[in-house]
Amino acid sequence: MQSFQLYEHASTVPTDSYQRQDWQKGYESLKSEFDYWIDDVEGQIPAKLNGTLFRNGPGLLDVNGHPIHHPFDGDGMISAITFTNGRAHFRNRFVRTAAYLEEQAAGKILYRGVFGTQKPGGFLANAFDFRLKNIANTNIIYWGGKLLALWEAADPHRLDPQTLETLGKDSLNGVLSPGEAFAAHPRFDPSCNQDDGAPCLVNFSIKPGLSTTITIFELDPAGNIIRKQAHSVPGFAFIHDFAITPNYCLLFQNPVSFNPLPFVLGWRGAAECIKFQPNQPTRIIVIPRHTSKPVQLLETQSGFVFHHANAFEQGDEIFVDSICYETFPEVKPQSDFREVDFADLSSGQLWRFHLNLKDQTVSRQLVEGRCCEFPSIHNGRVGRAYRYLFLGAAHAETGNAPLQAILKIDLESGKRQLWSAAPRGFMSEPIFVPRPDASKEDDGWVLAVVYDAAYHRSDVVILDGRGFSQGPIARMHLKHHIPYGLHGSFTSEVFVPEV
Ligand code: CO
Repeated sequence: MQSFQLYEHASTVPTDSYQRQDWQKGYESLKSEFDYWIDDVEGQIPAKLNGTLFRNGPGLLDVNGHPIHHPFDGDGMISAITFTNGRAHFRNRFVRTAAYLEEQAAGKILYRGVFGTQKPGGFLANAFDFRLKNIANTNIIYWGGKLLALWEAADPHRLDPQTLETLGKDSLNGVLSPGEAFAAHPRFDPSCNQDDGAPCLVNFSIKPGLSTTITIFELDPAGNIIRKQAHSVPGFAFIHDFAITPNYCLLFQNPVSFNPLPFVLGWRGAAECIKFQPNQPTRIIVIPRHTSKPVQLLETQSGFVFHHANAFEQGDEIFVDSICYETFPEVKPQSDFREVDFADLSSGQLWRFHLNLKDQTVSRQLVEGRCCEFPSIHNGRVGRAYRYLFLGAAHAETGNAPLQAILKIDLESGKRQLWSAAPRGFMSEPIFVPRPDASKEDDGWVLAVVYDAAYHRSDVVILDGRGFSQGPIARMHLKHHIPYGLHGSFTSEVFVPEV
C-alpha cells in the first residue's frame, strides 16, 4: 500500500508549516454562546446538504482565569451547525453539568481533572479527593430521538437538539445506574444481523482495576438497550475507542501500568499516573457480539491506540485499521500543554492489523506514515470492507505536527489526496456525509471545523468527498473561534433554529 503514495494538491508551504503562537491561540477559551445564520460564506453550501453537524470539545481552557492543566479537562461545549436549503446556522452552548454550574458560580476550580487539573492550594488541597467531574466534553450523538453529550468515565448528558439546553443526565431508559460509565465512542452498525438488518448502536464501558470489566451495550434505533454483556479481562485497561464488525467487538488493551499513589496523594491527575510499558505487548480483546463463544485475547507489538478507523471480517480473519503511537503522548505534570514540543512526541500513524482467529496470530502493516488522527468513513461501511478513509493530517509528510490538513486515502489503489489549511489553519476531526441517493462510497461531503489564526476565528469547511482538487466547495466564516474540539457527528435531522 505504501508504494502508491501520491499526494495531490499539496500546496507549497514549507516544511515548517505553522507558527506555534498561531496554534496556541486556538486554545483560548470561548466564553460566549452564539445563535446566528452564517452569512459570511465563500463558495456555495450544497442545497442537498441538509442536516445538523454536532461538535463537542473543551470550550473553557480556564475557570475564571485559573488555567486548566490539559484540554481534556475542559468543560464540554456543543456546537451545532444546521444546514438547510443552502444556508447554515450556528449555535453553541456549554453542557451545564453540575460541576460546570458550581465552578462558574464559585469563579474557581472546585474539582480535580482526570488529566492533571488540580484545585488551588497544592497537594494538601487535592489529596484523597476522588470526586469525578463529569465534563461531558468528548463526543455528541443523536440517537433514539436523544441528543447525548458523552464523556467516557461517566453517564451521558442529554440536551435539547433545537436549543442545546442541557436537560440533565440520561440513564438510557433506566439501564445505567447514576454515574455509570458509557464510552464516548459508540459505533453505528448500519445493518445488524440480529435485528433483521435494522441499524443498531454499539458502545462499551470500562471499569478499570487490577482486572478490568468491559461491558458492551447494543441499542436499537428507538434508543432502548436490547443487548448487554460484561466480561472481565486481566490487568488494568485504558481504552478510549473500539471497533466493531457484524460479529465482534475489538478492543485494544494498550500496554500501560497504573500507579494510583500520586493521584491519591494529590500530586497528579489520575491519567498522569498511567505509564506506558514499551516492552509489553498490546492485547487485542475480541468479544463475540451475538454468541456465547469465549472472549479471545490476542497479542501484537507494542504501541498506543486512541482511535480506530474501521474493522471488517473475511472468514476467520479480521482486519482492524487504527491510529497508533509509538508511545503514550503524555503531558508532563509541571508543564503547560500549550508549550508542548511536537518534535518530542510520537505521531499517530495508520496501521492495518490482521487478526487470524484460527491461528491466534496478529500481523500489522503501516498504511500511512504521515502524522494523522480522527479517522472518518462512510457510515454505511462501519464494520464492513471499505475503500475510502478521511483523516485529519499534518501538512508535512514526515514528523509530528498539529493537524492542518484533511487526507483522503483510497485503500484500494493506495492513492492519496490532501487539502491543507496551512500555514495558519488548524484542522479538527473531518466528518464524511454521504450525498443523498449516492451510489459511490466517496460521493458526499467532508465537513470540518478549521481554526484560522489569521483572523482568530473558525471556519466550517465543506470539501467534495470525491476529490479535493477544486479546494473547498464552501468555506463558512464564523464570527468567533471554536477551541480545538474532539468528536462530533452528523444527523440528517434539521433542527430548525429558534433564534
Ligand atoms: Co476519541
